[in-house]
Amino acid sequence: MLIKNRQDGFNHPVPSDITPRDVYEGRRDMLKLLAGGAAGAVLSSWAARDAMAQTAAPGKLAALVGAKSSVAGAMTTEKVSDYKDATTYNNYYEFGTDKADPAKNAGTLKTRPWTVEVEGLVKKPGKYGIEDLIKLSAQEERIYRLRCVEGWSMVIPWVGYSLAELIKKVEPQGNAKFVEFVTLADPKTMPFVGSRVLDWPYVEGLRMDEAMHPLTLLTFGMYGEVLPNQNGAPVRIVVPWKYGFKSAKSIVKIRFVEKEPGTAWNKAAANEYGFYSNVNPNVDHPRWSQATERRIGDGGGLFAKRRKTEMFNGYEAQVGQLYAGLDLKKNY
Ligand code: MTE
Repeated sequence: MLIKNRQDGFNHPVPSDITPRDVYEGRRDMLKLLAGGAAGAVLSSWAARDAMAQTAAPGKLAALVGAKSSVAGAMTTEKVSDYKDATTYNNYYEFGTDKADPAKNAGTLKTRPWTVEVEGLVKKPGKYGIEDLIKLSAQEERIYRLRCVEGWSMVIPWVGYSLAELIKKVEPQGNAKFVEFVTLADPKTMPFVGSRVLDWPYVEGLRMDEAMHPLTLLTFGMYGEVLPNQNGAPVRIVVPWKYGFKSAKSIVKIRFVEKEPGTAWNKAAANEYGFYSNVNPNVDHPRWSQATERRIGDGGGLFAKRRKTEMFNGYEAQVGQLYAGLDLKKNY
């Protein structure tokens, strides 16, 4: 992001160099799926069939299957991106700045034991072990577009539940106006923590109504399995109408605060990355246009036909009203 200045913001082999695997041929290891001991997985028989049909993963990680979501806007019908693309073309700067680095380096991330601390302006603060957090509410599958500020996008079947479920349980106080997400910064296992690329830990935040919006997903899995490390294991958020960098990975603290939290990218370059970061084709990044995007997997590399970027990444009907009256040019 900050340190790159080409149109696409990357200097990695183009996605067409990555051989797409046939992950959507419909073959999946049913036994693995049904073994689904991964805590809290909700596995109805139709969900298993559905997963068979749509979400073939490599079968290396523990199954985590959710029932198809009924939340409005949660299930795009666009072609889902190849698992290989979604797990080898990543931004996770703690493990390096090249798109291929997280897949290469994130094996060192230790995801058990893992605790998420809920603190700040809540009536019921506490520490949640990851297994308890996974079980806190029923898992759903959500097929969301994820649009990176760099100008590329993917379609990913995430598994999790609305962050609102957790927020309701911890009972925010009246003066809690924002939710801050603090992620792991462990120099022993994360080779780039300590580099000057960002001010660690990676921190993101949402306004309370954004955090409570049913589309905001507390995410534990993708493609019917637990999250691979490079995608933010064991828990991240996914906020589909905002640029990808709002979707903080490997969260260790969820903090309820009164004032807008300082976020990692905003601290690094305030004129480029605002707090809101809503996908908005009408507000250019200072160094490139945001009018179009390249769907990873479309082929053609840098010369691929680009798609028009939609307002709020296509989720305007669901979230547009959150920003009524807000000047989106100023609050980018
Ligand atoms: N979270 C942490 N902790 N560190 C990061 O560098 N990168 C962000 C976001 N979350 C990032 C992060 C950015 S820029 C993007 S586009 C998305 O993760 C990418 O998510 P994905 O690799 O699962 O597609």
